Amino acid sequence: MRKIGVLTSGGDSPGMNAAIRAVVRKAIYHDFEVFGVYGGYAGLITGNIKQLELGSVGDIIHRGGTVLYSARSNEFKTEEGQQKAIEQLKRLNIEGLVVIGGDGSYRGAKALTDKGYRCICVPGTIDNDISGTEFTIGFDTALNTVIDAVDKIRDTATSHERTFIIEVMGRDAGDIALWSGLAGGAETILIPEEDYDINDIVARLHKGQERGKKHSIIIVAEGVCSGVDLARKLKEATNLDTRVSVLGHIQRGGSPTAFDRVLASRFGARAVELLLEGKGGRAVGIKENLLVDYDLSKAFEKDVTYDLSLIKLSKELSI
Ligand code: F6P
Repeated sequence: MRKIGVLTSGGDSPGMNAAIRAVVRKAIYHDFEVFGVYGGYAGLITGNIKQLELGSVGDIIHRGGTVLYSARSNEFKTEEGQQKAIEQLKRLNIEGLVVIGGDGSYRGAKALTDKGYRCICVPGTIDNDISGTEFTIGFDTALNTVIDAVDKIRDTATSHERTFIIEVMGRDAGDIALWSGLAGGAETILIPEEDYDINDIVARLHKGQERGKKHSIIIVAEGVCSGVDLARKLKEATNLDTRVSVLGHIQRGGSPTAFDRVLASRFGARAVELLLEGKGGRAVGIKENLLVDYDLSKAFEKDVTYDLSLIKLSKELSI
């Protein structure tokens, strides 16, 4: 194999640039040519592909977003779209592809793999919801962005003796809510993986008030319900006035933390090694600080990706 490609797809995440850099530099180090696919799978279909040099990835390790751009492509979900993509890769003699992204990107890579094309997936999503890896690129940075907001909101919550609801990202995955809630000392954390009872939240608020607590932070993942809906329910249940902050897409941007940069560099380089070893249809991940790789289909197994012990701990510490 002399030529490989790299693309980013789906929701971007801080650290994707560090992963692209690692793929490019590692491949060139081993005398391979590297091609960047611009605009995710949509760019693959239209052939928006350019060769990358060492300098193409200079000065990007600290930048959020992705210099290769990203997209969610409906056309790529079709048989025809996938065939076009493979033709574009064959046209340029690109024999293997590193796909950096989340769940949807992995599904795209699986479709190419099933057609006999060699792909290696690198987990890049702030959601931290890919089975088979303990961390994904961008999660740590997003967490730190959330924590910064929670700390600031806590200041004003304390001054005004208010209850705040902070809505964070995570349609199906609660790790951002769970980890930021624990790190930010939130009294209540609601995640999509667990049902919640409004009466429990009310009981916790009352218990806090009884021991003199005058403010409270509730973190809710967007997949549970909107912060505004939760505020309405609390108002109905207790007549309590709350304030709502929806953090939104600021969670997806910003300079990656050192942790994400190192993780991305390790993942990107390992993905190239796997292609050089002639492998395909695999994903890279990290377990107990060791790099792992595993069959792509394992990434779709719906095992529990969140840590149950963290939920228990947050409940014990926020009494
Ligand atoms: O998958 C990453 C993510 O940021 C989710 O947390 C969020 O639900 C979704 O993407 C938002 O997607 P979009 O940017 O397309 O609105």
